Amino acid sequence: MPIFTLNINGRVWELESSGQAPLLDVLRDAAQLTGTKYGCGEGLCGACTVLVAGKPVKSCLMAISEVGEQPVETIEGLATARGLHPLQEAFLSHAAFQCGYCTPGMIMASKALLADIPNPTAQQIEERLEGHICRCGTYPRIVEAVQTAARATRAESSGNGGPRRG
Ligand code: FES
Ligand code: FES
Repeated sequence: MPIFTLNINGRVWELESSGQAPLLDVLRDAAQLTGTKYGCGEGLCGACTVLVAGKPVKSCLMAISEVGEQPVETIEGLATARGLHPLQEAFLSHAAFQCGYCTPGMIMASKALLADIPNPTAQQIEERLEGHICRCGTYPRIVEAVQTAARATRAESSGNGGPRRG
């Protein structure tokens, strides 16, 4: 099988795979980055969302051969030696999950959202997370968590908080 060179979470990986394999399978099986979840496998649930070149992508629908040199970011790449990412902190403090299966996809999509819209309204969050299914029904707490993370990120950016993370 061919070897693909991927940039995942800032690290270069040499991964053996068929070119048609979904990025999701390569992340979970070859790279052992199992934080990204398999839900429907058909682009309908959002559990498999990662960032490719900073944009949310349903990794069950993207073949590894389509990734090329674009950087891939998964939930494993968010925390640093300084601590959790503000979104992770906020999801914890708001208990914005129950089983947690949808959470990595929700957080990665929210990271892209905050990069585009630093101060999103509840409606903007709901619109951007449409297509992300939470079977535990924690949607209201997810919206609150994203708004809390947005405030924390803005405070960090303006120098009123701790060091900015990823
Ligand atoms: S597993 Fe990819 S969208 Fe459901
Ligand atoms: S927390 Fe269980 S699916 Fe969202």
